[in-house]
Amino acid sequence: MTKRIFAPAEIESLIESLPEGMEVSWIPAHDPLPGGGADAVISLLTRKIGGAEMDSVRGLRVVANVATGFDNIDLQAAADRGVVVTSTPDVLTESTADLTLALILAVMRRLPEGISLVQRGQWEGWHPTQLLGRSLTGATLGVLGGGRIGLAVARRARGFGMNIVYTARSSKSEFDELGASFMGLNDLLAVSDCVTIHTPLNASTANLISTEQFAAMKPGAFLINTARGGIVDEKALLTALDQGRLAGAGLDVFDGEPAINPAVLAHPKIVSLPHIGSATVETRRSMAELAFMNVVAVLDGQPPITPVVVDGRVAPS
Ligand code: GLV
Repeated sequence: MTKRIFAPAEIESLIESLPEGMEVSWIPAHDPLPGGGADAVISLLTRKIGGAEMDSVRGLRVVANVATGFDNIDLQAAADRGVVVTSTPDVLTESTADLTLALILAVMRRLPEGISLVQRGQWEGWHPTQLLGRSLTGATLGVLGGGRIGLAVARRARGFGMNIVYTARSSKSEFDELGASFMGLNDLLAVSDCVTIHTPLNASTANLISTEQFAAMKPGAFLINTARGGIVDEKALLTALDQGRLAGAGLDVFDGEPAINPAVLAHPKIVSLPHIGSATVETRRSMAELAFMNVVAVLDGQPPITPVVVDGRVAPS
């Protein structure tokens, strides 16, 4: 029997061929899910899917998120209803790590200020003390989160001569070859010249980096966030920047995005990007394809390819 899928209209152009035996309704991400029932919903990270949304789709068996994060989906509601939830890890690791390095370079080498100076026609020629940034070589990068993206960032940063320290629930052997030191969060904050966040947003990481953590950071350090905005207390971030404790921040994600706190947006020491960590043609195609492949697997009665994993375990369904 033909299976019905609700999929975001925004990914239609990324899909080269649709699986057979599936009827796809392309729904703009900001439109409510239509009635009429479906076997699967493919969702973007901008669509909240709680129990009410699941109940509105009669016959729903799987929600396939086109993202590695899944904080937009109520996992308990899915488990209560026997709905499988999948995400798209792995395929976006390298592009997100690239973007993270771009932000590290942007803030430590003051790229936006340089670009703006040239564009305003105010550059008066090479000057020995103009726009002095910080060397990556020899600086310590603190990686918060020992998962795939954190590791990929650490590998790249090592290539730039940075020393790596990391924090995670347990030490990871993959970091050993980088000469990385495993430590608790407070120790990491105290020794890092730049802290980069690569952890999911959940109840234990919401506002994880707040006043106390900024106070524990090395004076003049940088903060990079390409994970989720809610992990950083933006008010505390602004205070730390204004007090000169923090030298700069690079943010690809914001609390409550796409709305951005105007003070964050206007801050001269914050480099802001519009959540483009995984935004390459290749990666976004792979993410969209993987979401469809997960749907096909589940609807064929197979295990999902990339089920959502929480604390090392597949989320119950
Ligand atoms: C992007 O933020 C993702 O979770 O894939």
